[in-house]
Amino acid sequence: MGAGRSMWVHVLVLLGVALLAAQTAQAELAAPEPARRAALVNMVRQDCGSCHGLTLKGGLGPALLPETLADKPAESLVATVLHGRPGSAMPGWSRFMNAQEAAWIVARLMDGFPQLADSAETRQ
Ligand code: HEC
Repeated sequence: MGAGRSMWVHVLVLLGVALLAAQTAQAELAAPEPARRAALVNMVRQDCGSCHGLTLKGGLGPALLPETLADKPAESLVATVLHGRPGSAMPGWSRFMNAQEAAWIVARLMDGFPQLADSAETRQ
């Protein structure tokens, strides 16, 4: 009987570890925290907007609107945001955001960027 019970303890511990691993993986894919999302929205409107236009319709840098980005692979846009485009005015932003945050910004740009930091999209 003792052996049977310890097997069940093992099964339960393994299940617990698997659940924990699944939760951690999910947390890594999740969007940034609400306060951080608001900061990122402001950063894009102000810092990115200084080159890409306050309405993101383009300026020194190209437009960052859903229709202009539609055909471009998201991964390469994320790489551009993080590392910039050597030989162009586009700087890299990896000192100011991580890859998850850059991916969140690119996904929002491709959707239509939230106007204000407290708009519905950033509260999701
Ligand atoms: C100093 C000006 C400047 C700033 C600030 C800037 N960009 Fe850029 N960005 C550019 C230029 C110029 C290009 C075009 C590069 C090229 O010639 O390929 C570009 C290209 C891009 C592209 C690729 C667009 C495409 O159609 O391939 C993305 C995405 C982008 N920028 C996002 C951002 C984001 C997000 C920020 C703020 C975190 C930002 N940029 C800030 C100048 C800037």
